[in-house]
Parts: sequence; C-alpha cells; structure tokens
Amino acid sequence: QEDIFKNVVSHAKEYGFIFPSSEVYDGLSAVYDYAQNGVELKKNIREYWWKSMVQMNENIVGLDAAILMHPTTWKASGHVDAFNDPLIDNKDSKKRYRADVLVEEFAEKINQKAQKEIEKARARFGDAFNEEEFVTTNARVVEYLSKYKEILSRLAKGMTDDLQDVKALIEELEIADPETGSRNWTDVKQFNLMFGTKLGASADSAMDLYLRPETAQGIFVNFLNVQKSGRMKVPFGIAQTGKAFRNEIVARQFIFRMREFEQMEMQFFVRPGEEMKWYHHWKETRLKWHLSLGLGKENYRFHDHEKLAHYANAAADIEFNFPFGFKELEGIHSRTDFDLKAHEQFSGKKLQYFDPELNENYVPYVVETSVGLDRMFLAVFATSLKEETLEDGSTRTVLKLPSVLAPTKAAILPLVKKDGLPDIARTIIEDLKWDFTVAYDEKDAVGRRYRRQDALGTPFCITVDHQTIEDQTVTIRHRDTMKQDRVKISELKDIIENEVST
Ligand code: GAP
Repeated sequence: QEDIFKNVVSHAKEYGFIFPSSEVYDGLSAVYDYAQNGVELKKNIREYWWKSMVQMNENIVGLDAAILMHPTTWKASGHVDAFNDPLIDNKDSKKRYRADVLVEEFAEKINQKAQKEIEKARARFGDAFNEEEFVTTNARVVEYLSKYKEILSRLAKGMTDDLQDVKALIEELEIADPETGSRNWTDVKQFNLMFGTKLGASADSAMDLYLRPETAQGIFVNFLNVQKSGRMKVPFGIAQTGKAFRNEIVARQFIFRMREFEQMEMQFFVRPGEEMKWYHHWKETRLKWHLSLGLGKENYRFHDHEKLAHYANAAADIEFNFPFGFKELEGIHSRTDFDLKAHEQFSGKKLQYFDPELNENYVPYVVETSVGLDRMFLAVFATSLKEETLEDGSTRTVLKLPSVLAPTKAAILPLVKKDGLPDIARTIIEDLKWDFTVAYDEKDAVGRRYRRQDALGTPFCITVDHQTIEDQTVTIRHRDTMKQDRVKISELKDIIENEVST
C-alpha cells in the first residue's frame, strides 16, 4: 500500500498534475501547486459538484464570499475559542505531535510487532502453521492485536475531539514515543489552527484577521442577503467553493491534509424540526453523487459520529478507501440554528426568515454538506491509477479517470510529421476545441504517444494517417479497452460528447 501511495505521488509530479509548492526553495510543508493537468482535473471535479448542486437544483444558489472576513465572525463561530488540536510536546525528541497522528502511528507499530511474530512462527512451523489458531492462542500476539483494535476503535470514534480522552488514552496505554521508546511525555496542549494576518498599514492601527478555516461562515453571514435578493423560500441552499486555511500541525499524506486547501460546501436552510429529514436526504444524495463517478461502491462507507461538535445534533462522514485506508472525504452535519443565532448575538442584527406559509419568523436550521476538493482529487486520482499487464506480457500505466473529469478529452496525433498529416490534425483540433479540451502531439512513435496519453488519463486518441487523405476517416482509440475504430472525422464530436457528458 505504501508503494501504491508513492506511485501516486510520483505520477502526479511526473505527468504535471501536482508539484510541491515553491519547490526551487525545497518546498513548503503541506502546501502544493496544481500543474497543467492537475488544474484541469481539479476544475472538472469542482464543475461536476457545482452542476449537481447548483445547476440541477432550483432551490440552491451559489456564492463566492471573500476569504477575509470580519474578525468577530470567528468569535461567533467558535473558532477562536474551540478550533484547536491537541498537541503533545515530547521532551526527548523536542518534537510536537498531533495527538491523533501519534496514537495512530503507535497503533501501527503494535500491529507490525504482531505481524512479525506471526511471520516468525510461519517460518518455523512451515506447512503445519495455522494462522487462525496462532493469533487466538499466542499470548503476546493476542495482547498486541487487542491493543491495536482498541486504539483503532477509539480513533474511529473521534476520541481526539476531546483533550481529556487523549490524555486518558495515553496514560492507560502508556504510550511511548515510537522513535525513542521513551514514555517521558510532557503536557498535552491546545493549539489554534487558524492562520492570523493583519489588515492595515501601521502596526498600532492594524486589525488582526484570520484566513478563513472553512467557507461555511461566508454563507451564514450572507444568508439573509441571498434569501431576500433571490426571494428564496425555505428550504433552500447556498453553495460555495473556495480556499480554506488551517495551520495543521502534522501535515502528512500528500494533498489529503494540507495547510491551504479548497472546500465545496453547501448550507441548506430548513424549518426547525425538519432538519433530520433533510439530514438523511443529504446523506443519501451526497453518497449517490460519489457513486456516480464509478470508483466502486466498496470504496465508500458512512461513519456516523457518536460524539458531536457543540453546534451539531447529527453528523456523519462519507469515508473513502484512500491508499492509506478509509478516511474522511466529506462531512454531512446537522448544525441546528447554532451559527445563525451566534451571528445574531455577536452582530446585534436579526437573521430571521419570515415563513409565509406558517406566517411566522424564525431562525432556520442548517444541514451542511462539506467536501474537500483536494481530497476528492486524491480519491479520484489514486483509484484511477492502474498498472496493467497486457496480453503480450508488456505493462502499461493507465489513469482510468472518469471521462467527465479527464483533463484532456482527446489527443490528436498525426501518424507522421509529413505528407500534410499535421495540417489535417490541426483542422480537427480547430473544430473540436470549441467543445472539448484537446491536445496535439506529433513527437515519438505513435505507440509511445498512446502510452503517454494513457498515463494522463485521456479517454481518446485520434490518429490521422494516409487513409485520412483519401476518405476523411481517422482511427479513434479508447483508453480503457485500447480498441481502435475507424470513423469519419465528422462523427468525432458526437462520439466524444457521448462519452464525456454527464
Ligand atoms: N464547514 C464544515 C467543515 O469545515 P470539516 O470536517 O472540518 O468541516 C470539511 O471539513 C471537509 O474539508 C473535510 O471532510 C475534508 O474533505 C476537507 N478538509 C478539512 N481539512 C482539510 C485539510 N487540512 N486538507 C485538505 N482537506 C481538508
């Protein structure tokens, strides 16, 4: 699995999807740049989301609020006081760990110990070895595995939401530093995840601001503006995509946890008392959206939260099977009227809706769907990357992206660089580029060009050869099956459209 993940990271770099930020200066930890192909894939995911949320729903409208917001926003939302990660200072290594990451690493170490014992026994007993019997009878292995399961189940319950729980678990399991073996832990501290910045020129008058840690608050503070100017009726939604910033302590796993990332969020405003109905509706609707991409049903699961954040009365994650295991991809939260009431309180302004059917004013309840665009990117990219062995025994690397998301929909390839074939290829491009992102490539043998487009995830390669001059036909090669058909140039648009439309 580690190898698969390494492959994903290197493929993303080699083929122009993702580069480390400011790489000439050796990069900036947990910050990444999307390159020429990455930016297209990311844009296509964003558009796929936007279309299903905004374009397809009469009662959901879009918004693009500013990243910088009035600082009181973050007092009202609770981020100033409660948006913290538990941190553990280690005296020996002078390192700071995020508690959940530390605990997870510890669990992995225990598991590895158990696996080593199992391997040793297998080597000793050979054919007579019965793994099932061994793991239930060998005292040391039983202990390792039960500790491992215990930690995983605590992690799954989101135990790191609560500082006390982390402390208790550390004491209970006597967790040692995985690097040094020392148990000499000092304090568990809280660390606020928001990035601070300043507005204004002079040091005295400058105002302390934060880069938004979620896009949601821009929606809440605009709720009444949008409702009134758009004459929206409850239930209705406001959708937004945009950057969010979190000073993550331990940023690992490539673009899974970044310091600057993008969210795609939708707040759905409903009548008080109807929130559970909508919560279930959005849980199902969002899962269906994910499944529509065809990455495999088995790669998704719900994780219902037992512990709820202070503002929520129900919450679930849609988890995805990333190369490093099942992890949160999207959150669906029933946020009650917490945010709107808090903004009323802190601003002194009413944020109420007049419901003409009930003939009453109220602060709506909110059901939120929030998915990380970068995590979607990683889910799609990692799952699509395949190493295939072909019939002749050779291998090919192919990025089997859903066609609708592919950065380039078709590559147009003249078989040779002469005899007027490049000119014909250019005319085909001139015609197709109005509707699709297309690419031209004449370098290297055509077989190698096919492989390159496979690695980029391009669903179609269109080859112009000498027969094209005679009869205006080309070959069209399908990425996944590698099958080639001979078709008329005039049919190309429909064939591509049919494959890449949503
Ligand atoms: N408004 C609710 C909210 O922000 P969240 O669970 O903190 O909830 C929502 O974040 C989603 O944003 C997550 O499910 C994840 O996909 C994405 N996300 C959060 N932190 C991230 C990070 N540091 N890097 C990349 N994506 C992140």
